[in-house]
Amino acid sequence: MLKEKIAIVTGAGRGIGEGIARKLAQEGAIVVCADINLADAERVAGDCGKQAIGMRLDVSNAGDCDAAVKATHDRYGRLDVLVNNAGINRDAMLHKMTDEQWHQVIAVDLSGVFFMTRAASRIMRAAGSGRIVNISSASWMGNIGQANYAAAKAGVVGLSRTAAKELARSQVTVNAICPGFIDTAMTRGIPDAIREQQVAKIPLGRAGQPADVAAVVAFLASDEAGYVTGEVINVGGGYVLG
Ligand code: NAI
Repeated sequence: MLKEKIAIVTGAGRGIGEGIARKLAQEGAIVVCADINLADAERVAGDCGKQAIGMRLDVSNAGDCDAAVKATHDRYGRLDVLVNNAGINRDAMLHKMTDEQWHQVIAVDLSGVFFMTRAASRIMRAAGSGRIVNISSASWMGNIGQANYAAAKAGVVGLSRTAAKELARSQVTVNAICPGFIDTAMTRGIPDAIREQQVAKIPLGRAGQPADVAAVVAFLASDEAGYVTGEVINVGGGYVLG
């Protein structure tokens, strides 16, 4: 589905990003596995084929983002796919949330998506093609203890829809995916009783796996998805059904 496409996946060192990198590689893409943790990024790249590379990238740093996109373009001559997956959470009730918790999450989960999208859009506009897939979250609609995270993830929805409008004339598509409850390090930190409560609310009766999200990313990154843009797609076992 993605033969020889050049793809950057942020936060590819573990969890959902690792699942996405592996799936894109399996579909034939050459994947730049970018993560703040270089050792993890290199480990995943090692499993993604000999043309894949691991790269250290802090998405909250605009200079890092410009450099990562430039290094990819210089090395491979193209950039076809950008997956903005890197994200963190720093949960706290609103009245106890520190400035630091607020700023850290906005910096990585929202500004990071902006910095990478801006850098990639310059190349994709000139090329007249491209695919950008942003990982938002079901929490964008509001979730207790996640004012910072929900605000950032709602921001990603607005940013994605705006980028979709601006880039449509260049045949660049931009879509957002909202995973529900996915089994990764991020959710493994949640106390067992709350985890069980969350999973019990999922109509399909199980937590999601990174591969469940990766399958949808691979489709959106493919040529076949060329007429899909500005969408916000829930991948959560039916959680939206209530
Ligand atoms: P994770 O914590 O397992 O992995 C996140 C990866 O991002 C790590 O490899 C980490 O090193 C990297 N990272 C963190 N800060 C970074 C930065 N500044 N620059 C570059 N890389 C950085 O998290 P998980 O669960 O795989 O989440 C991936 C994305 O999916 C995040 O955007 C998260 O908000 C989103 N998501 C996760 C859900 C879940 O249930 N796990 C549900 C909905 C959305």
